[in-house]
Amino acid sequence: MTGDGPIPVHRRTIALVGLMGVGKSTVGRRLARRLELPFADGDTEIEAAAAMTVSDIFAKLGESEFRAGEARVMKRLLEGPRMVLATGGGAILNPETRAALKERAVTVWMRADLQTVAGRVQRRDTRPLLRGRDPLTALRAMAEVRYPVYETADLTVDVAGGAHAQAVEAIVEALEAHFAAHAPEVGT
Ligand code: S3P
Repeated sequence: MTGDGPIPVHRRTIALVGLMGVGKSTVGRRLARRLELPFADGDTEIEAAAAMTVSDIFAKLGESEFRAGEARVMKRLLEGPRMVLATGGGAILNPETRAALKERAVTVWMRADLQTVAGRVQRRDTRPLLRGRDPLTALRAMAEVRYPVYETADLTVDVAGGAHAQAVEAIVEALEAHFAAHAPEVGT
């Protein structure tokens, strides 16, 4: 997609994927601090580009416009410098985004049990796909469609129930093992 071809694993952006409410943004920010990398949040970048909240984009322009904007933002971020990137829960479903992630990122699926996630998302009303729906039912339906895609991530880390600090540590461990298994050749 970028024409540059795959980049070495240890120089890739670290992209967190998974359902809304698993803690991608909060954990991503902490992970970035821990790894001394810049951090970006896909949803925040879309909101900045559109000068509108995600909710307003869905309400005023519709989901397909949101998805088109999301794909553009993901492309831009993935072509940029190495960072920790919290992706919106639906971003990886776009085939071009998926291809760019495969080429340029180490993807980490943050997996949590749906009951925990449902409890978390209930606290905020900022997610248009959940509005007016029973969160657990909606999340189950999403999981059915999305888990087969999330499963294609390079790494899967269970983050259920634990504190964010624990999730950060679990991700760091998984990344270290991944980098060790793909040790850079001298000079790269
Ligand atoms: C979405 C997840 C949200 C946001 C939008 C759609 C999804 O991001 O992009 O509401 O389709 O799962 P978070 O996963 O950061 O909540």
